[in-house]
Amino acid sequence: MGMDAGGVQGLRIVEVKEDSPIWEQLWPVVEQLAQRPYIEAQAGHFRSSHVLAAILEDRPLGFLRFVVQRLGEDEGRPPIVIRDRTLYEAKIIAFGVLPEERNRGIGRSLQKEAMGRAQALDCCQVRSRSDYGNSANYHLKISLGFGIQPSLEDDSVYFVMALPAEGSLESSSGEYQGDCI
Ligand SMILES: CC(C)(COP(=O)(O)OP(=O)(O)OC[C@H]1O[C@@H](n2cnc3c(N)ncnc32)[C@H](O)[C@@H]1OP(=O)(O)O)[C@@H](O)C(=O)NCCC(=O)NCCS
Repeated sequence: MGMDAGGVQGLRIVEVKEDSPIWEQLWPVVEQLAQRPYIEAQAGHFRSSHVLAAILEDRPLGFLRFVVQRLGEDEGRPPIVIRDRTLYEAKIIAFGVLPEERNRGIGRSLQKEAMGRAQALDCCQVRSRSDYGNSANYHLKISLGFGIQPSLEDDSVYFVMALPAEGSLESSSGEYQGDCI
């Protein structure tokens, strides 16, 4: 289970499975932020899917979903293979915090937890996409160290962060052993 990284006192970041009681509490938060399609989206190239919840005093205040995919597969590109290892990435496809709970570090804690879990899952990078004009999200991503690649398709950008090589190229387990609820 992940704890807050210097942000909100008592904040817990946990992975939530669909059969967890937390799931029912998280759902209204997802609905309020109109991110149901991103929580529900399924695709053949998703190797695994992980929903994280930010919980304070037993109440979910925010969420993040990332999926593990072979790098390039969603764009129809061939595998990238380094030293006989095919590269995988964690793509964040849902991310939100309740409006009244914003700007106190909850989003940052969710992002950091996702990075740690992605590394444990042998991903070589974390990536996400955001429309232009989302100043809070841009600030958060830049301050965490993400690079920015403007999309060739529309007025959005990709945020990309490389994860340390030990977790992406050297580790062989590929299985995250952390807490789930
Ligand atoms: C993006 C989002 C998840 C961030 O959650 P959060 O809990 O507020 O995140 P944090 O508090 O960790 O960080 C927010 C940062 O943005 C900064 N910020 C807020 N509004 C800002 C603005 N208009 N311009 C620049 N920076 C801004 C805050 O000061 C904070 O930075 P700091 O930690 O350096 O002080 C939240 O704003 C949200 O749910 N937005 C709607 C959904 C969304 O846009 N999701 C992401 C794209 S799918």
